Amino acid sequence: MFTIGVLGSGKGSNFRAIQSAIEAGTLKARTGVVVSDVADSGILVFAREKGIPAHHVDPASNRARLAPEIEQQIVSLLREHGVQLVVLAGFMRLIGQPLLEAFPRRIVNIHPSLLPRHRGLAAWKQALEAGDTETGCTVHYVDHGMDTGEIIAQRRVPVLPGDTPESLHARIQEAEHILYPEVIASLIQQFSTSNK
Ligand code: GRF
Repeated sequence: MFTIGVLGSGKGSNFRAIQSAIEAGTLKARTGVVVSDVADSGILVFAREKGIPAHHVDPASNRARLAPEIEQQIVSLLREHGVQLVVLAGFMRLIGQPLLEAFPRRIVNIHPSLLPRHRGLAAWKQALEAGDTETGCTVHYVDHGMDTGEIIAQRRVPVLPGDTPESLHARIQEAEHILYPEVIASLIQQFSTSNK
C-alpha cells in the first residue's frame, strides 16, 4: 500500500480530511507516520487516537527553518516508516536540504491562497486586506522558498461581503479538505502509472 508521511504543527484538520478519505477508500494509501514540531498539537493527538505512529521532534529554536540535524531526524523517521510521499499539513517551518534531498519532488504542501498571490502567514487576512473578491487554496510541490514551489492544483473560494478573517479562513479550509485528499490520490495514481 502506498505510504504517506504527514508533517504538521497545528490542529490537523487537513490530516483528518486525508485520513477520512483513506478510511472511505477514495484515497488508496496509508499514513505511515505523523511528525510534529509541537508536542501538544492536535495533529499528534488525532494520530495517536487513530493508532498511527506519532512523533514529536524538538525544534530546539524558534527559527523558521529547522536545523539540518533535526531535519535529518525527521528523514530517518519517514524512512523507518516506509514513507513514499511527504504531506505537509499545517507544518509551520520552511523545508531545507536534508528533506528536499531525501524526497525529491515528493514533498507537497497546501497553502490558503491562490498562489502566487499571498505567500506566507495568514494568507486569508492578506486577501481581505487586499480587497480580493476571490481567493482559495493551492497544493504545490515544496522547494527551498516560502510557498514558492510548482503549483499542482487550486480550488477557488469567494470572498463574501461581511467576511471576517475567521469566516474566510473557515471557508478556505472547507475547500482545502476537498482539494488535498483529491490531489494526493491523483499524485499516487500518477506515480503508479509512471513506475509501470
Ligand atoms: C491550513 O490552513 C493550511 O493551508 C496551512 O496551515 C493550515 C493548517 O490547518 N498551510 P490544519 O492544521 O490542517 O487544520
